Amino acid sequence: MTRVVVLISGRGSNMEAVVRACESGEIDATVVAVIANRPDAAGLTFAAAHGIDAIVCDHTTYPDRNDFDLALANMLEELNPDWIVLAGFIRILGAELVQQFVGRMINIHPSLLPKYPGLNTHARALDSGDTQHGATVHFVTPELDAGPVIEQVSVPILEGDTADELAARVLREEHKLLVKALKRCVKGNASFTTP
Ligand code: GRF
Repeated sequence: MTRVVVLISGRGSNMEAVVRACESGEIDATVVAVIANRPDAAGLTFAAAHGIDAIVCDHTTYPDRNDFDLALANMLEELNPDWIVLAGFIRILGAELVQQFVGRMINIHPSLLPKYPGLNTHARALDSGDTQHGATVHFVTPELDAGPVIEQVSVPILEGDTADELAARVLREEHKLLVKALKRCVKGNASFTTP
């Protein structure tokens, strides 16, 4: 069985979409663990309630980024995932950890990359006067939000949209997009290897 580990930082609605798709058989894989870098991440409750190993790797308890990355890498190695999904994981991972799992680590980002890597994407799209926004699932590489794109979806920006309204509209599409992208990965229809 294909093993998936999902990394979250908070609410975890994208993680929920992945778990439900695996439970229903839409994705032929099992979520074996959900790891949060914050102990109060709401998504942990959902994971535990679904019989999934809900693990905290609290970045504030490590002296520096490198120690956190090492601890996380050890946890991941032990879990032996085929795929690692960053789903609302708000923590930059170091190049060494990323290289270790490159080709089997994907991220969902709320923008039409390469537009708006980083945070506050919805407000930035509105400030720029864009008419389209969206979301992207991509392979994780050491450069932030810059890895090869697996799937993208466009979402219209409506007149008078606030950042929150736009974020909510994009989020609904993110859930579908992440399931679609992970499904492709699990089926072997999306791959990325470094030379
Ligand atoms: C999503 O918009 C995700 O793309 C972004 O942060 C949000 C997390 O939402 N990185 P959730 O935790 O999946 O509900």
